[in-house]
Amino acid sequence: MSERLKGKNVLVTAAAQGIGLASAIAMAREGAKVYATDINPEKINLIRDQILENLEIFELDVTNNDSIHHGVARAKPDVLFNCAGFVHHGTILDATDEEWDFAMDLNLRSMVRTTKAVLPGMLERGGGSIINMSSALGSIIGAPNRCVYGTTKAAVVGLTKSVAVDFITQGIRCNCICPGTVDSPSWRDRVDALGEQLGSREEALAQFVARQPMGRVAKAEEIAALVVYLASDESAFTTGHTHIIDGGWSGQ
Ligand SMILES: NC(=O)c1ccc[n+]([C@@H]2O[C@H](COP(=O)([O-])OP(=O)(O)OC[C@H]3O[C@@H](n4cnc5c(N)ncnc54)[C@H](O)[C@@H]3O)[C@@H](O)[C@H]2O)c1
Repeated sequence: MSERLKGKNVLVTAAAQGIGLASAIAMAREGAKVYATDINPEKINLIRDQILENLEIFELDVTNNDSIHHGVARAKPDVLFNCAGFVHHGTILDATDEEWDFAMDLNLRSMVRTTKAVLPGMLERGGGSIINMSSALGSIIGAPNRCVYGTTKAAVVGLTKSVAVDFITQGIRCNCICPGTVDSPSWRDRVDALGEQLGSREEALAQFVARQPMGRVAKAEEIAALVVYLASDESAFTTGHTHIIDGGWSGQ
């Protein structure tokens, strides 16, 4: 541990698995006091060498203002990592009103809620870093059957830039992360679902991997390394940006 985040309080949403969990662990290993939260906190299953005394787990539902305010009061975060999000499948013709409402609420409005909740404390303490989970898909590059998801993730970029510019002189930084495809429990579910549709999980996996020019998807820990950087003072001159980490997908 090199203690790049020593002295910082960090609040992570959707930290039970995937990128949120990997990031919570990485930031705790760098010396931050990490509050790892999820709507299902009992799923946060740390293995022996990940049990860190500076990592605290509790329930936080990002669709619920009371839950957010309770969590923010407990964590008093210097860093907020907004990681919650959900992927719907289909084109604009498939998407239902319910799917739009659900995704706008979970993928975008949740970040509005948490940001509004953390900003007063951050301003009082003289600064903070807000890191929003967007996606290369939607904000940088189109992909088939991701209309609802891509739209919400593109909107996260707009929110990020707006918060960054409004508070830039008051010590607040706001950046977003745009990953390519990342190995996570929900990604594996999407591979299974496509596999059922195609009649072959191998074919489904090949389709997901084919869009990544490196011939592989990312590990959650590779995204977590970028989260650590944006949380730390090493990125002090960086705000309002989309940080693309997509194995070259959108760079070709
Ligand atoms: N996996 C990928 O390929 C990929 C690529 C780009 C961006 N992302 C984004 O990264 C984020 C994390 O995705 P992942 O695939 O690593 O994890 P995941 O989808 O496997 O896990 C999501 C977590 O969110 C939690 N959650 C759901 N609703 C919640 C709520 N209301 N409040 C709090 N937590 C809630 C779930 O319990 C779960 O633990 C998402 O925003 C996703 O869109 C993922």
